[in-house]
Amino acid sequence: MDNMLNVALPKGRLGEKVYAMFERAGFECPAIHENNRKLIFENPEKQVRYFWVKPSDVAIYVERGAADVGVAGKDILLEYSPDVYELLDLDTGKCRMAVAAPRDFRDNPQRTLRVATKFVNITKRYYAGLGRDIDIIKLNGSIELAPILGLSDVIVDIVETGTTLRENNLEVFEEVVPISARLISNKSSFRFKNELIERVAQSIAEQIAEVSK
Ligand code: PRP
Repeated sequence: MDNMLNVALPKGRLGEKVYAMFERAGFECPAIHENNRKLIFENPEKQVRYFWVKPSDVAIYVERGAADVGVAGKDILLEYSPDVYELLDLDTGKCRMAVAAPRDFRDNPQRTLRVATKFVNITKRYYAGLGRDIDIIKLNGSIELAPILGLSDVIVDIVETGTTLRENNLEVFEEVVPISARLISNKSSFRFKNELIERVAQSIAEQIAEVSK
């Protein structure tokens, strides 16, 4: 194990915002702004190395120890239950998991509900909690199409601004769970690199408290 803090950042706008938090915590790596195709950046002086990772893959890197810490959406943590520590709610990347349906949808509780989603486990748990029988249709994207084409009755998906739903004549039918970005840590890194990880977590917690004042 090296003595660097290996950080998996979610590629995209959220990742940029999260990097700024690490930077303010004293883990700057100016080279990160210079090249937008490179995937690894390090600053040995600050003992930090960053990887740009597909957002839905961050938890895998952290669970397996390829990264010590990372930032993942609560949706991914709930769906895949990776064996990691969840250290902080970053109070950003906020959206909600919701059931959505065509505007004229009326539920008939006597019938098995056909639900299209990427989030099979979250969906099963949610409807099991309601005691409702469902038929899950697992899709990988463009979930909004399913009820429009009659492939499903409803969808379970992430809603941020609501624009995607609106543009496709769908609306939120029920809320499932609020989502935000979380700082996660590999379990053994948390023991062996505790000082580095606590330092970054502490500073980011202070930054968040400062903003929400
Ligand atoms: C999510 C989700 C919706 C959209 C909702 O997709 O699946 O399609 O965002 O956002 P809105 O309420 O602001 O319109 P995302 O952009 O994460 O990409 P994905 O389809 O690859 O999951």
